[in-house]
Amino acid sequence: MTLTSIAQVAYLVAAVLFILSLAGLSKQTTARRGNLLGMAGMGIAILATIALALDQSERAWGVTLLLIACVLLIGASVGIYRARTVEMTQMPELIALLHSFVGLAAVLIGYNSYLTEGHDAMHLVEVFLGVLIGAVTFTGSIVAYLKLSARMSSKPLTLPGRHALNVGILVASAALMVWFLAAPSVWPLILMTVLALALGYHLVAAIGGGDMPVVVSMLNSYSGWAAAAAGFMLGNDLLIVTGALVGASGAILSYLMCKAMNRKFLAVILGGFGGETSSGGAEVTGTHQETSASALADQLATAKSVVIAPGYGMAVAKAQYPVADLVSRLREQGVKVRFAVHPVAGRLPGHMNVLLAEARVPYDIVLELDEINDDFPDTDVVLVIGANDTVNPAALDDPSSPIAGMPVLEVWNAKSVVVFKRSMATGYAGVQNPLFFKENTEMLFGDAKDQVEAILAAMTARV
Ligand code: TAP
Repeated sequence: MTLTSIAQVAYLVAAVLFILSLAGLSKQTTARRGNLLGMAGMGIAILATIALALDQSERAWGVTLLLIACVLLIGASVGIYRARTVEMTQMPELIALLHSFVGLAAVLIGYNSYLTEGHDAMHLVEVFLGVLIGAVTFTGSIVAYLKLSARMSSKPLTLPGRHALNVGILVASAALMVWFLAAPSVWPLILMTVLALALGYHLVAAIGGGDMPVVVSMLNSYSGWAAAAAGFMLGNDLLIVTGALVGASGAILSYLMCKAMNRKFLAVILGGFGGETSSGGAEVTGTHQETSASALADQLATAKSVVIAPGYGMAVAKAQYPVADLVSRLREQGVKVRFAVHPVAGRLPGHMNVLLAEARVPYDIVLELDEINDDFPDTDVVLVIGANDTVNPAALDDPSSPIAGMPVLEVWNAKSVVVFKRSMATGYAGVQNPLFFKENTEMLFGDAKDQVEAILAAMTARV
């Protein structure tokens, strides 16, 4: 058995481990195992790739090993440093940046493959499509990174005739592909690359802040297809399988996110929504009522059922730990406590689930929107901790609201609602929230962590 065939078998094993990993990640209880399987798959894949590279490098083993060691060292150091320092709230921008690397890699592999390998038609098509998808992913992801990290305005760029511009670029790329196939030279490839870079920039620049969650998962999908294209160019089966897995799962996630926000996928891709923030929606006026940590501790002493609706503010304040303490304290007193998690609460898919798991909140009391929305009328107190858009009744009542039609947690149906936030400021979508002015709602101003700790202290003082 040659080293190459051993590597092929190893690739197959790694591909199966990746599929099992994805299956594991679909449930909280098996997620840890899913991660371990994925890591094992990646370890095997890296070892097999190194073995293949050595096998193909004939006698220049030393140089090949040195080059691999250098890139592994650089990649691992940057990766370990970023993984240790990144804040959970910065995860989407980091992911966007990582997608841009996949796009860039596909472009570079495409050029390398064109310059070093034969020019049969099939190979040329692979190169052309690989570079096209890679270039769109590259600039698109950079714009997503800049928008998510607030280095660029999240307003959609609405150029006149922008749809015609996109279609024009695609038509021009198709024409360049014909040229590339008919008379292979680097020029049509370069021209298409420039156009594709512009297309990636324009596609994502046209998408407003409100739709960014979908864009990140969409770029995730594109990066998968870019990797699969690179796999075709390199003749690497594992890269094709992995790319297809990422591409397909990213597309499914985009669809689920669109459903959670009641947006049409095509409308998101074509952009131009989500920037009309404060101008959209009916004017909300009224007076709000305030409460204090000790008054809330008194209220909780008589409550029988409590639901906690967490949002981005809980992540910012890192309030999940005292919230978990509050939950166990209330459960000890016989109160029925559950969490209501909106699919787009926070800034990345599953954000709240990750935070709550980190604070060791039992999985069985963490419910999704569909599972809990009907239970609010039977709930004594809802604690809205740092959530805003995901509990905004305007999504249902006000057709002019930028978030109109988005399913929300109908917390206002509970007997009483307490909203933890620092001010009357709007949330991510920039829209006012009529919930704050409802008769059964009270505001608890301040940092969410400080306030939950103050409630815990008041509860201790009571006993
Ligand atoms: P948001 O609507 O973003 O509101 C969060 C609220 O937390 C803010 O109004 C803010 O009010 C408050 N807050 C911030 N820091 C706080 C602190 N230290 N203590 C207490 N409160 C604090 O939250 P949400 O309900 O989770 O909604 C998520 C939004 O993000 C949706 O519009 C969603 O579409 C969007 N989005 C989601 C994702 C994914 S995938 N989940 C990705 C990107 C965008 P104050 O400033 O007054 O404190």
